[in-house]
Amino acid sequence: RLGGLAAEAGERAFLVGGLVRDIILHRRNTDVDVVVEGAAIDLGNRFAREYGWHLHAHQRFGTAVLLGPEGERIDLATSRIEHYPYPAALPEVEAGSIKADLFRRDFTINALAVELDGTRFGRLLDLFGGLQDIRQGTIRVLHSLSFVEDPTRILRAARFEAELAFQIDAQSLRLIRNAVDLELPARLSGHRLFRELRYLLEAGGAVEGVRRLAGLGMLRFVHPALEAERDGAVERVEAGRDVLDWYRLLFREEAPVRWKVLLTLLLWKLPPEELGDALTGFEVRSRDAHRITGDRRRADRFEQAVIGGAVRGEDPAGVFEHLERISLEIVLALMAVTGHAGVREAISHYIQHLRGIRGALSGSDLIELGVPQGPEVGRWLERLVRARVRGEVNSAEEERELVVR
Ligand code: CTP
Repeated sequence: RLGGLAAEAGERAFLVGGLVRDIILHRRNTDVDVVVEGAAIDLGNRFAREYGWHLHAHQRFGTAVLLGPEGERIDLATSRIEHYPYPAALPEVEAGSIKADLFRRDFTINALAVELDGTRFGRLLDLFGGLQDIRQGTIRVLHSLSFVEDPTRILRAARFEAELAFQIDAQSLRLIRNAVDLELPARLSGHRLFRELRYLLEAGGAVEGVRRLAGLGMLRFVHPALEAERDGAVERVEAGRDVLDWYRLLFREEAPVRWKVLLTLLLWKLPPEELGDALTGFEVRSRDAHRITGDRRRADRFEQAVIGGAVRGEDPAGVFEHLERISLEIVLALMAVTGHAGVREAISHYIQHLRGIRGALSGSDLIELGVPQGPEVGRWLERLVRARVRGEVNSAEEERELVVR
């Protein structure tokens, strides 16, 4: 329908980007990107009027988002040519043909298009050998300045390679090495670098992706301290992946955010203040950054407490008290990274049997049972949780008995 409307105005519309690649690979992808050789916003307006969809236009970029009645979403853009005023800068944009639009993209596998207009509907436009590269599993750039224009593509190459089990081709690999030798990734803002790093850490094959980055000498752009200990960093991320796999098979309700676990592990050797600075540089939301840094400190204190004997791993209440205040991500990260079997076992037991334990009685239940209003109620609530954790009470009834006694 979109293609039909475009054709009526003498324009051509194309499905482009990751969706075309993923259809060919039989992979799930719900991002629908359409490029128009013509005015994207006008086309979007006509479509929205005709079919009762909503349109959000960004006049400045000449792009629009179409929102359908059942949650559908189509991103519309005018085909464009980009100029990069200097390496790693954000591009300046002007209107152009579909060919120029595809040529500015990162890899051949992402530069395929499908025609959407009436007569040629469904025809694959493969101007740069993308189909063959998908078949052969090759990540290949379209031109030799690709990584100079946009060094985040180095992280993208590592991600696609790991996620799709593809290989970066030899020439593209040389171009990456050149860009790294020229220190071009150092010019990226922390925000842009981290955005791609986060996608990589969330992707299937995160460990292989990080290993590739380490091999390319890219980790030092994530943090200079990683240059000296590449292998250690990769091993920690690998251990994190294994702990996440273990956790998934417990089928627990609380779901960890994968990138937080793996990023914390990548940067585990940094003192907490430096970790905080790094997260700020990445423009991680400050609430998240504070939480991660604070939890990182609490994790250290817990580990030291177990190693020093202040907390016995077999004492559920002691372990619970420490770990219940730490986010799941950092608890899992500590489990992956600790060199101490007692710490690992205490965490394993805690996660399987103790995390999230609550008492059954509420504050008002306690008052009904005769506990005086005020701080006494809070103390009782805590006492009941501890009794639960120790296995001394197992039901609301048993909690009541404990209070009445
Ligand atoms: N792109 C690019 N250079 C970048 C980022 C994106 O050329 N640094 C292009 C790619 O051709 C990509 C398209 O913009 O196909 C859309 O980008 P994005 O949605 O980030 O990637 P997808 O390819 O859709 O991959 P995925 O959805 O799996 O992340």
